[in-house]
Amino acid sequence: MKGRFFATILAVVAVLFAVTGISSAQSKPNVVILATGGTIAGSADSASATTGYKAGALGIDVLLNAVPQVKEYANVSGEQICSIDSKDMTDEIWLKLANRINELFARGDVDGIVITHGTDTLEETAYFLNLTVHSDKPVVLVGAMRPATAISADGPMNLLNAVRVAASPNSVGKGVLVALNDEINAAREVTKTNTITVSTFKSPELGFLGYVNEGTPEFYRTSTRRHTSDSEFSVTGRTSLPYVKVIYGTANDDELFVDAAIKAGVKGIIYAGTGNGSVHMNAEKALAKATAKGIVVVRSSRVGNGTVIPAEQSYINYHFLDGDSLSPQKARILLQLALTKTNDLAQIQRMFKQY
Ligand code: SIN
Repeated sequence: MKGRFFATILAVVAVLFAVTGISSAQSKPNVVILATGGTIAGSADSASATTGYKAGALGIDVLLNAVPQVKEYANVSGEQICSIDSKDMTDEIWLKLANRINELFARGDVDGIVITHGTDTLEETAYFLNLTVHSDKPVVLVGAMRPATAISADGPMNLLNAVRVAASPNSVGKGVLVALNDEINAAREVTKTNTITVSTFKSPELGFLGYVNEGTPEFYRTSTRRHTSDSEFSVTGRTSLPYVKVIYGTANDDELFVDAAIKAGVKGIIYAGTGNGSVHMNAEKALAKATAKGIVVVRSSRVGNGTVIPAEQSYINYHFLDGDSLSPQKARILLQLALTKTNDLAQIQRMFKQY
């Protein structure tokens, strides 16, 4: 009798535990990690090596097993999108990523997405997704400067923080985010600023959005430019993007690269000019030939800070557009997406003011 009483109590307790366990799993957000490679998944021969390793060598399961703490914040699952060094990023992988993210959010049961990525082109992928993901739910890019096998690797804590950011209601509606070194940056403004050190991602002048304070994402400002659910760009069903090249202006510049770009059939050119997007007189002649052929030319700047605003009358006469404060590599992305919609110069200039 006593035995049966205790067995009943045990059964009730077990049911309670099960129910509580299930409800706590259900109450956690669902976060999907899309892995693309990079140093965060890099493997070196020795624990002291921070160069000469193979980026993207480790799969998403290995990364997740190294940070079991992510499960405290979210129900996490992983998918391997590709395993590359991000210097080799392509438009095709961007399209695959954007379409997969839109598909996952359309399912309804995914609350946030983390993308593990190499740091070299991380800011470009972030800005591309900022314009092509149509959801307010958090999308967070994360990388690392030291390979996973290094002493004091920065990847594990960065990954944990990225999951915390993706799982947090504070991150909703902020656009695509980049989270490394306890700092959260906006995709539009962030850039890699140092070739080697771990504190490389910054949003110069405009500043980062917030911190991960002892595990809690806290925001202090937002980016005011259009993004994600407010973006007019869609890549659904697209298999390629318009061909746009960046040409870098220097002293003693000439017509060579612009002429080659015209010959190669580009649809757009970003001229990374000196100062306020200033164009060398030799390159200017070549760029004027480009706009006469219907190629869209946008003046950007190699300076790294500030805005490119209207300057010489000749730039207006030749229909060169102003790249606003986007870096040349991000201006390329916006022009590619703009050209999927229109060739109208006034419309494209509007886009550079809004995104
Ligand atoms: C890469 O971008 O894939 C290699 C470099 C890095 O992740 O830091």
